[in-house]
Amino acid sequence: MSIEPSDLIHGEAIAQALEMFRLNIPVEVLAQCPSTNALLLERARMGAPHASAIVCENQTAGRGRRGSTWISATGASLTFSLLWRFGSTVSALSGLSLAVAVAVARALEAQGGAQIELKWPNDLLFRGRKLGGILIETLSSADSTVAVIGIGLNVRNAPALGDRVGHQVADLREAGALGSRNELLVAQLLQLSQVLPTFEKHGFAPLREEWLARHAWQGRRVRLSGGGHQEAEGEAIGVAEDGALLLQVAGEVRRYYSGELSLGLA
Ligand code: BTN
Repeated sequence: MSIEPSDLIHGEAIAQALEMFRLNIPVEVLAQCPSTNALLLERARMGAPHASAIVCENQTAGRGRRGSTWISATGASLTFSLLWRFGSTVSALSGLSLAVAVAVARALEAQGGAQIELKWPNDLLFRGRKLGGILIETLSSADSTVAVIGIGLNVRNAPALGDRVGHQVADLREAGALGSRNELLVAQLLQLSQVLPTFEKHGFAPLREEWLARHAWQGRRVRLSGGGHQEAEGEAIGVAEDGALLLQVAGEVRRYYSGELSLGLA
């Protein structure tokens, strides 16, 4: 597919917009790379600065959660990663992926998007179909953690992408987020640069209500599998202040920190 000339990813336009918001985030724009997460992790090991980002037009080996592949379409997706250095151990970062999902949803809504729904832990949905995903990979030492926060969004042409992915997906254009991909990227970096310092100071707690307001499956019967624990089925009653999924199972509330959620039968 050819890229609409008005929607090229353009380093200069991104840099100018970031400067307008007084955001000091160097963004590297690449035409092609295997994965922005893989590349930024490599750069992080070589000392890449806090709050640097890579955006790539064509990811050839995009990584998804739980070892899956992230499929995107040249010109019709937005795939980028942001490096963030936290002065704490990885165990203090519980709930980070939910905090990032709040930032992304805020940014998309600021770009005109209708309400974006969140599926635990960090999928972005529109009308029940996946609009985007978040993959956070970390490098940790005794007292600090480098997080590479990778975000993939379907911008347009969801039906064609859905054929390749094997299930229906949604895109930002149908969700009403109409900004150019440069604008969408800048909006997300802006929200992330506000949400991440809040998270670093106070954890997920101050963002929890906002996450819950967007919770796609609140009160629904769900099944949780593959998190290194026994499969669980129950009612999704929300998330805790540390980002744990709260499931009501056989009259008791249980907390889960990992796994893949699907809708249950009832
Ligand atoms: C998911 O499985 O839902 C998470 C998908 C994350 C995809 C993004 S695209 C940019 C960054 N680079 C990658 O290789 N993956 C993430």
